[in-house]
Amino acid sequence: MTVLNASATAIADAAKHLRAGGLVAAPTETVYGLFGDATNPSAVAAIFEVKGRPKATPLIIHVASVAAAMELALFDDRAKYLAQRLWPGPLTLILRQKPNSPIASVATSGLPTIGIRIPDHPTALELLKIAALPLAAPSANLYGKVSPTRAAHVAAQLGSRLTLILDGGACGVGIESTILDLSTAEARLLRPGGIARETIEASIGEIMVPVPPEGSVSGSALSHYAPRLPLRLNAYCPLEGEAESLLSFGPNPLTGFAEEFNLSPEGDLKLAAARLYAGLRSLDQTEINGAKIHRIAVMPIPMRGIGIAINDRLHKAAAPRPDPK
Ligand code: TXA
Ligand code: MG
Repeated sequence: MTVLNASATAIADAAKHLRAGGLVAAPTETVYGLFGDATNPSAVAAIFEVKGRPKATPLIIHVASVAAAMELALFDDRAKYLAQRLWPGPLTLILRQKPNSPIASVATSGLPTIGIRIPDHPTALELLKIAALPLAAPSANLYGKVSPTRAAHVAAQLGSRLTLILDGGACGVGIESTILDLSTAEARLLRPGGIARETIEASIGEIMVPVPPEGSVSGSALSHYAPRLPLRLNAYCPLEGEAESLLSFGPNPLTGFAEEFNLSPEGDLKLAAARLYAGLRSLDQTEINGAKIHRIAVMPIPMRGIGIAINDRLHKAAAPRPDPK
């Protein structure tokens, strides 16, 4: 595995590798993605393989322009309006796929719909432009584990399975895209993410939030985005007798914990989102100075703006784990 600084030359090499059917991990504004040619069935199959991801969970297709997106999917007025206002950005639209779409059907799990977005990151955008292909990309982590917001996170989890990682620094948004289903007349929010519901509603009016979120979105499966240690949410005090680490938020963190990571001492939710996955990773130590750490306690995070997406990820990280095999 090689980690290359995302220079113009490295991006050009990565684009060549993609055109030859290879995979490349690279940053987007949300999280690092594991990119492959979406029109090449064996490249797409390799993405599922490397992540250990079930084939029934479709991938998001990334493109460089609205025009490129329109070659793949049917845009109604709502979709056009949102694409023009909010792309590039952390918004994935689920749309009906065009009948002549070149996307490999394994990428969309054989669905008649397609999840599509333009990432707002210079590296991802350059890569898309030079490769001149629609690129399928899930988050570049093992299925069910914490998403990567730095090249080192990708290297630690997938390094042995990848040949090329482009390092473009830390992701600015830090939490995955918002997924909005516009494939039917009723707009539905399938995953809260980097763009707040209010921002979408300011453009197209009220949207539905299915409860519980539908099972087709991997982000809604039980136990996702999970570190090794269990999580205890909405912690208001330490527990007697069991050492825990603390994921704190705001200017008055709790005391009495083995280790602490403050998402934002200023109480800034955007900063907290950008630091969430790095915080979960750094607290994921089962032993500190010879003492067993039982879990990660998490202070309450306000349910507004991007705080809704932060709480969504924390709930999924805290969900019951599948039985160890
Ligand atoms: O910010 C992001 O969205 C990142 C970056 C790399 O773009 N990608 C990401 O991908 O989070 P992933 O694979 O971890 O999550 C994509 C989700 C999956 O849960 C999948 O179910 C949903 O998007 N999805 C994709 N296509 C869909 C479709 N046609 N219908 C419903 N859900 C879809
Ligand atoms: Mg993911």
